[in-house]
Amino acid sequence: MFVSIEGPEGAGKSTLARQIQERLLGAGYRALLTYEPGGTALGRAVRAVVVHGHDAARLPPGGPIRDAARAPAEPDARGEPGRGAGQSPDAASKMGTPLTPRTETLLFCAARAQLVDEVIRPHLQRGGIVICDRYADSTLAYQCYGRGLPLPPVRAVLEFATDGLWPDLTVLLDVDVREGLRRKEQIRSSAERDRFESQEVEFHERVRQGYRALAAAEPQRWLVVDATMPFDRVLASVWDQIGRRLKVGGTPLP
Ligand code: TYD
Repeated sequence: MFVSIEGPEGAGKSTLARQIQERLLGAGYRALLTYEPGGTALGRAVRAVVVHGHDAARLPPGGPIRDAARAPAEPDARGEPGRGAGQSPDAASKMGTPLTPRTETLLFCAARAQLVDEVIRPHLQRGGIVICDRYADSTLAYQCYGRGLPLPPVRAVLEFATDGLWPDLTVLLDVDVREGLRRKEQIRSSAERDRFESQEVEFHERVRQGYRALAAAEPQRWLVVDATMPFDRVLASVWDQIGRRLKVGGTPLP
């Protein structure tokens, strides 16, 4: 089973993803947690350029980029995803040519193709469960609804990048945009905001509405959860849905 967790900024995706993995491991399932962009050495290099705005030409040659802003360093490692190595957008824009939306899309998709082939598909083929903190729907929400790229060509690129692999279940942690950004501000100062966090509120509002439209169009795949509920209730509703789907697959949760 393949589960992705999506949502706008500050929705609590990473915390939820870790808790779900812990519960699944505790119940005896081989559950692997990974994230986007990241999850592979290439993904962490893409993340440095696309999220933090580092000049690609100045990245150290060879060797994986360790993103201090985002643990786990390994796809299935567990640990607190630290925050705070964000490059200030001003500094970022001084470093290189701004990325165009199409370039940004293709970079996310390149990282995703690698993650699918190197991490996600092999684990699924071994009968494991994969939980991915953001996946292809992030590109539809951020690059299409947020940046304004048309959906059909981006969907075609996504099909290619994912090799047609879509999650069995996608959880949308839905949160009011201002509330989500406020939660993130408690974690880092405005000088540390990355290329996405520093976008205007309207951008994040389009992303949120995009997610809701995607979920409404495919209700059998999506579970929409109000992320402003107490965390225990958020976790319980996602756990309940995963349990139902595992039972359908013939392997009941204990
Ligand atoms: P991250 O620090 O992981 O933020 P979050 O905790 O919200 O996941 O940064 C990832 C950023 O990249 C986030 O703002 C969303 C953006 N993004 C896209 O725009 N498109 C994509 O396809 C993906 C995977 C992420």
